[in-house]
Amino acid sequence: MRRVVIDTDAGVDDSIAIVYASRLPDATIELITTVSGNVPVSEVTQNVLYLKKILRLDAPVFSGAEAPRSRKLITAPEVHGKDGVGGYRKSKGISFPAWRTGGAAAAIVMAARKFGKKLTIISLGPMTNIAKAVSLDPAAVKGVGGIIQMGGAFSGYGNTTVFTEFNIFVDPEAASYVLKNGVKVTFVPLDLTETLFLPRNIVASLLVKAGVNWPELVPLLRKALNHYIDYHRHADKLDGCFMHDPITVAAAVHPEWFRFTGSSVSIETKGKHTAGMTVADFRKGAVLGNSRIAVSFDALTFLGDLTGKVFGARIGRSAAGQSCLRRRFTADFRNNLR
Ligand code: RIB
Ligand code: CA
Repeated sequence: MRRVVIDTDAGVDDSIAIVYASRLPDATIELITTVSGNVPVSEVTQNVLYLKKILRLDAPVFSGAEAPRSRKLITAPEVHGKDGVGGYRKSKGISFPAWRTGGAAAAIVMAARKFGKKLTIISLGPMTNIAKAVSLDPAAVKGVGGIIQMGGAFSGYGNTTVFTEFNIFVDPEAASYVLKNGVKVTFVPLDLTETLFLPRNIVASLLVKAGVNWPELVPLLRKALNHYIDYHRHADKLDGCFMHDPITVAAAVHPEWFRFTGSSVSIETKGKHTAGMTVADFRKGAVLGNSRIAVSFDALTFLGDLTGKVFGARIGRSAAGQSCLRRRFTADFRNNLR
């Protein structure tokens, strides 16, 4: 049994990742911590508390950083909605007294000390809380079984600026601090997560099937996913959406579905056009250093498991499954002639 901490900026795909993680028989969620990213941490925490309620999770929830330590917070309401779930929570007037405000980083440290190698930290947002946890007790954080970070773009374009992925772009100093302090991180980057998407028609049919089983969860997923897909249609000309964070959960709990490479990763913090860029040295003979990068995965096995667990309707190696695979737009301009 793998014990996991989820640090999240929930977020539409984060919310699906939490649902997925809660239904994985091989994982126990020991703690959920929240961080500003997709939306401010106050909204993120409300989303997580609502998920905790409807999924009947035992895990304690601690809220964390309101903003990066050394730069202004950037959020993405256009992608996730102002409340982070496509406006669903606000439209229903759902809110909780935010108890245990603060303390996310200390809670991560406590979990690291308690579970050591048995613990995997799954980081689905900017690394602000993780960096703070490292500053509080580097040995404890280094002593966990693994830290898996959704983030980075190594061989292709970013989703925020030309070369940056959102989570790292929001707080590059935090990511850099973690790596520079000798903490090994496994990155699940856009290069991999954007090779799979859920088309709108498939999402619609999954929601119809799921509706019978989970009357509280499905209206939330419907509104959140529709908002998220509308964004992708407008911004990426893609009538569907990416599952960045659920894939990251899978990389933590089912690493056997993934191929990883060792690498040395540095984070650009200063460049006018490149701050937040993840730079990996893939040259022959380069030192295999502080990180691992997920480079490919068995997307259809993941898809079958995700759809079965989150929607109660498996899409596997069928034609529908095949229609979820895509070739990613890469930095090789010869493939992108217009
Ligand atoms: O770039 C994708 C990542 O940024 C995902 O974690 C998404 O939820 C946002 O946080
Ligand atoms: Ca996220």
